[in-house]
Amino acid sequence: MSHSKTPAAGETLFSGTAFLILLHLFLFLTPALSLDFLFNSFAGVTNLTLIKDARVDASVIRMNNDSNQYSYGRAFYPVKIPMLKTNTSNNSSSISSFSTSFVFSILPQISTSPGFGLAFVLSNTTDPPGAIASQYFGLFTNATSPSVFPLVAVEFDTGRNPEFNDIDDNHIGIDLNNIESINATTAGYFNSSGAFVPVRMRTGQNIHAWIDFDGENLEFNVTVAPIGVSRPTKPTLRYQNPAIADYVSSNMYVGFSASKTNWIEAQRVLAWSFSDSGPARELNTTNLPVFELESSSSSLSNGAIAGIVIGSFIFVLICASGFYLWWRMNKANEEEDEIEDWELEYWPHRFSYEELSYATGEFRKEMLLGSGGFGRVYKGTLPNNTEIAVKCVNHDSKQGLREFMAEISSMGRLQHKNLVQMRGWCRKGNELLLVYDYMPNGSLNKWVFDKSDKVLGWEQRRRILVDVAEGLNYLHHGWDQVVIHRDIKSSNILLDADMRGRLGDFGLAKLYTHGEVPNTTRVVGTLGYLAPELATVAAPTSATDVYSFGVVLLEVACGRRPIETSVAEEEVVLIDWVRELYAKGCAREAADLRIRGEYDEGDVEMVLKLGLACCHPDPQRRPTMKEVVALLLGEDPPEAPGKVLSDLVRGGEDSDEAAPLQPSPPPV
Ligand SMILES: *[C@@H]1O[C@H](CO)[C@@H](O)[C@H](O)[C@H]1NC(C)=O
Ligand SMILES: *[C@@H]1O[C@H](CO)[C@@H](O)[C@H](O)[C@H]1NC(C)=O
Ligand SMILES: *[C@@H]1O[C@H](CO)[C@@H](O)[C@H](O)[C@H]1NC(C)=O
Ligand SMILES: *[C@@H]1O[C@H](CO)[C@@H](O)[C@H](O)[C@H]1NC(C)=O
Ligand SMILES: *[C@@H]1O[C@H](CO)[C@@H](O)[C@H](O)[C@H]1NC(C)=O
Ligand SMILES: *[C@@H]1O[C@H](CO)[C@@H](O)[C@H](O)[C@H]1NC(C)=O
Ligand SMILES: *[C@@H]1O[C@H](CO)[C@@H](O)[C@H](O)[C@H]1NC(C)=O
Ligand SMILES: *[C@@H]1O[C@H](CO)[C@@H](O)[C@H](O)[C@H]1NC(C)=O
Ligand SMILES: *[C@@H]1O[C@H](CO)[C@@H](O)[C@H](O)[C@H]1NC(C)=O
Ligand SMILES: *[C@@H]1O[C@H](CO)[C@@H](O)[C@H](O)[C@H]1NC(C)=O
Ligand SMILES: *[C@@H]1O[C@H](CO)[C@@H](O)[C@H](O)[C@H]1NC(C)=O
Ligand SMILES: *[C@@H]1O[C@H](CO)[C@@H](O)[C@H](O)[C@H]1NC(C)=O
Repeated sequence: MSHSKTPAAGETLFSGTAFLILLHLFLFLTPALSLDFLFNSFAGVTNLTLIKDARVDASVIRMNNDSNQYSYGRAFYPVKIPMLKTNTSNNSSSISSFSTSFVFSILPQISTSPGFGLAFVLSNTTDPPGAIASQYFGLFTNATSPSVFPLVAVEFDTGRNPEFNDIDDNHIGIDLNNIESINATTAGYFNSSGAFVPVRMRTGQNIHAWIDFDGENLEFNVTVAPIGVSRPTKPTLRYQNPAIADYVSSNMYVGFSASKTNWIEAQRVLAWSFSDSGPARELNTTNLPVFELESSSSSLSNGAIAGIVIGSFIFVLICASGFYLWWRMNKANEEEDEIEDWELEYWPHRFSYEELSYATGEFRKEMLLGSGGFGRVYKGTLPNNTEIAVKCVNHDSKQGLREFMAEISSMGRLQHKNLVQMRGWCRKGNELLLVYDYMPNGSLNKWVFDKSDKVLGWEQRRRILVDVAEGLNYLHHGWDQVVIHRDIKSSNILLDADMRGRLGDFGLAKLYTHGEVPNTTRVVGTLGYLAPELATVAAPTSATDVYSFGVVLLEVACGRRPIETSVAEEEVVLIDWVRELYAKGCAREAADLRIRGEYDEGDVEMVLKLGLACCHPDPQRRPTMKEVVALLLGEDPPEAPGKVLSDLVRGGEDSDEAAPLQPSPPPV
C-alpha cells in the first residue's frame, strides 16, 4: 500500500489570508464557529454545495445522473469545518474531533451489475484534481497517482476491485488520499451479544451510519446498521493511526461523493447530522422514504399510506389494462428483481421473466391452461419450439418463498419417466414461476369423468394407473429422500403425448429422510382424497399418499368422482359405496358402465379391491407403493405382503374379508 504524504504541516497551517481570517474568527468566536447541523430531510435545502451530477431530489440527495453513462457527484456542506485548532499563546496546533451520523441508500438497477458505492469525505477542496467520473467515488484518479490535496474518505464500497486489494464487494474502508483503503472491513454490525451481523449495503435499504473521529488520538470509529436497529455500541471499524494527521488540513469540506459507469446505481443520502463539538444529534429516521427496485426512479414516502394505497390501486389498473405497454417501457429493467444469493443455489436453469413472458404471449388469457388454489398455469413455447407449462405460485412472504423453493428445488432433481419434469424457474417479487414440460393431453380426470365420447378405454386406464403407481413408488422408495406428494388425485395426473400417465404438481409435497417420523403440519390436500387419520394426527406419511392413490384407483375403475352429489345418498362417497358392494360380494358392479365389455371382470375386480386395500382406515394395513406396483403388474409382491394384500391376492371371496374394511368416517 503506497500512500503519498501531504504537504508538510506548516504549509497546511498557514495557507493564505482566508485561512488567517478564519483562524482569527475561530480563536475569538469559538462558540459561533463550532459546527452543528442536522438535516432530517433535504427538502427545500438550497445551500448545499452540489458538484456535477449531485442534486437534491425531493427530500434526498441523489449523487448521480442515471442518464449519463459516466456520472459522478458530490454534495458538501457549504462551509468548511476547522480541522486544526491553534493556540496562539504557544503556537501549538491540535486536530479537531467530530461526530457525524447519516442515512444512505444504495440501489442498483440490476443487482448483479458492478457496484460503485458511496463515500463520506473530508477534503480541502470540493474538486480534487484528476478525479474521474465513473469510478473511485468520483474522488480519485487511480491508485498510483494519489490525491495531492489532503483528503480523508470513509468508503461504503459495494464493488470489489481486486487491484486495490478490496476485501469483498460490501465493505467499509478508510481512504487517505488514495482509492486503496488503508483499512477495511466487511459491512455489518455487532449486536448486543457481540455477534457480527452482516449488512448488505446494495439492496436499497436505508442504512444508518455513524462516524466518530477523535482528533487527539487520531482514531476513526465507523458503525453501520439498518434503520430500525439502534446504534450498536461496538463500532464496525475502528482505525487508529497517527499518520491520519498528515491528511488533515486546517479547514475541510465535509460531505459525500459517488460515481457510476454504464450500470445504474442510485446512491442517496436521506438524512445527515454533524457536530464538531460533541456527539452528532440524533436523526429522526421514522419518516424516511424507502427506495426499492420497483420504484427506483421515484421516491416513495413510507408514511404516506394513502399515497401507497392510491398508488397500488393505480398500479393494479395499469397492470390490468396495459401490461404490454408497461413491459415495453420497462424493457431496460431486464432483471426487474434482484437475484438473491440463495436463489442461485437452486436448479440449473433460471429463466428470465421476459423469456417466460414472451413464451406465454405475455401471459395471455388464451394461454391459461387452468387455475386453482395454488396458482395459474399457462402454456408457453420456447424459442426452440419446446412446449412448456408455466405455473405461477404466489407467496406472501419471502421467508415462506424461500422454504418453499428449497423443497421445490430438491424436487427439481427428481427424474422419472412417470413424473412431470421440471425445467426451471423464475422469481418475480413474491411470485414464483415454475416451468414444467407441457403435457399435451391434459389431466386424467378429463378423460375419465367428462361425459364426452372420448372416454378412455380400460387398457389405457390400466396402463396409466401403473405409470402413476411407478411414479409414486419412485417418490416413496426410489430416491435418497422420501417425498410425500400430499395431493394425489386424478386432476394431478397428466397425460403426455403418448397418453402415458405422469404425476404432476409437487406444490404441496414434503421431503423426509428415510425412517424419519413425519411432523404434524397443516393438513393440505383435496377433499375426498384425504386419509381419515389426517383428521386426528395431521402428519402426512407415505400411507396417506397410498390412501389417495387408492381413491384414484377407485375413481378410474368406476369412472366416478370420489364425492358425487348427484346420486343416491348411499352412493355419494365413492369409497363407502364400493366397500358396501364389496361386502355384498358384488364389487364389480361399481365398475364404469361405459366401458363394460372391454375389460376382464377379474381384472377390474382386482383393481377395485386394491383400491379398497389402499383406502384401509388403518394406515398400518395399507399396502406400500412397492406392493401396489407389483400387484398391478401381476407380479408377486416383493416382500411379505400385508394381511390385506395376501387376502386380496388369494381372491378373498369369504365374507370375513370385509370385516377389517370398516366404513371410513365421512371426509372432513
Ligand atoms: C487547501 O486549499 C486551499 C485553497 O482551496 C489551498 O490554497 C491550500 O494550499 C490547500 N491546502 C493544502 C494543505 O493543500
Ligand atoms: C443552510 O440551510 C439550512 C436550512 O435550509 C440552514 O438551517 C443552515 O443554517 C444553512 N447553512 C448555511 C451554512 O447557510
Ligand atoms: C441528466 O443529464 C442529462 C444530460 O446530461 C440532462 O439532460 C438531465 O437533465 C440530467 N438529469 C438530472 C435529473 O439532472
Ligand atoms: C493556549 O495555551 C496557553 C498556554 O499553554 C493556555 O494557557 C491557554 O489556555 C490555551 N488556550 C486554549 C484556548 O486552549
Ligand atoms: C507563534 O508563531 C508566530 C509566527 O510564526 C510568531 O510570530 C509568534 O511569536 C509565535 N508565538 C509564540 C508564543 O511562540
Ligand atoms: C500549548 O497549549 C495547549 C493548551 O494548554 C497544551 O495542550 C499544549 O500541550 C501546549 N503545547 C506546547 C508545545 O506547549
Ligand atoms: C494513473 O493516472 C495518471 C495520471 O492520469 C497516469 O499518468 C497513470 O498512467 C495512471 N496509472 C495507471 C496505472 O492507470
Ligand atoms: C484494520 O485495522 C485493525 C486494527 O486497527 C487491524 O486489526 C486490521 O488488520 C486492519 N485491517 C486492514 C485490512 O488493514
Ligand atoms: C471507538 O470505539 C471504542 C470502543 O467502543 C471506544 O472505546 C472509543 O472511545 C471510540 N472512539 C471514538 C473516537 O469514538
Ligand atoms: C419524528 O418525525 C415524526 C414526523 O415526521 C414525528 O411525528 C416524531 O415525533 C418525530 N420524532 C422525534 C423523536 O422527534
Ligand atoms: C429448448 O430450450 C430449453 C431452454 O432454453 C432447453 O432446456 C431445451 O433443452 C431446449 N430444447 C431443445 C429441443 O433444444
Ligand atoms: C418437528 O417439530 C419439532 C417441534 O415442533 C421441531 O423441533 C422439529 O424441527 C420438526 N422437525 C421437522 C423435520 O420439521
